[in-house]
Amino acid sequence: MKKNLVIAIDGYSSCGKSTLAKALAKKLGFIYIDSGAMYRAVTLYFLRNNINVADDAQVADALQHIELNFHSRDYESHITLNGEEVSDEIRLMPVSENVSEVSAHKLVRHEMVKQQQRMGKSKNIVMDGRDIGTTVFPDAPVKFFMTADPKIRAERRFKELESKGNNTTTLEEVFENLAHRDYADTTRKESPLVRAEDAIILDNTDLTQQEQLDFALEKVGPFLVH
Ligand code: DC
Repeated sequence: MKKNLVIAIDGYSSCGKSTLAKALAKKLGFIYIDSGAMYRAVTLYFLRNNINVADDAQVADALQHIELNFHSRDYESHITLNGEEVSDEIRLMPVSENVSEVSAHKLVRHEMVKQQQRMGKSKNIVMDGRDIGTTVFPDAPVKFFMTADPKIRAERRFKELESKGNNTTTLEEVFENLAHRDYADTTRKESPLVRAEDAIILDNTDLTQQEQLDFALEKVGPFLVH
């Protein structure tokens, strides 16, 4: 196998990037890294510690006090923030409502990209996010750009929240949050969400998870040299 193969998956919020990334990692025995979880964990820290995103000095100082680690259990990615497991809390609305602003900050992005590039060094990884194929690993040999109907995406995220016991957020609120994040992610100054020229588009509105995995495996196949 080619040493250190990186599979980059980018795309809009809640369009199944992590589901596909996990399935690919499991099938190929790669490490899965959810870059969005890192921005979410940083956002949680900022919320808890009242960090003012408009104050660069505060942001820089806060970043020095944040340690993020992934623990992979059965290809589910668990993230710790300064040793505390925060995987569930980072999915809740307070974080979702503030993560766009935090992840648009250039110092935050700079630090996360540095950590992500370190994680991908000399390892086989599948990483999903917004700028993986454009900024974090522009030389990744396989890149996917995922998209799906916004209504379907909102329904999927709503069900996911429901299954985790959330019954305070409505479907409309989830839809609006996604629309807001799409807008913020694609129009921000620092590495906006954009399809890398060499990324393969995967619209999964009408595809099952198995169909998506088969499609992706077919594209990755040529790079797996045994
Ligand atoms: O993938 P997600 O929805 O959990 O990501 C949360 C937010 O983090 C998303 O609104 C945009 C931001 N993000 C980013 O800017 N760059 C990445 N590589 C991953 C996520």
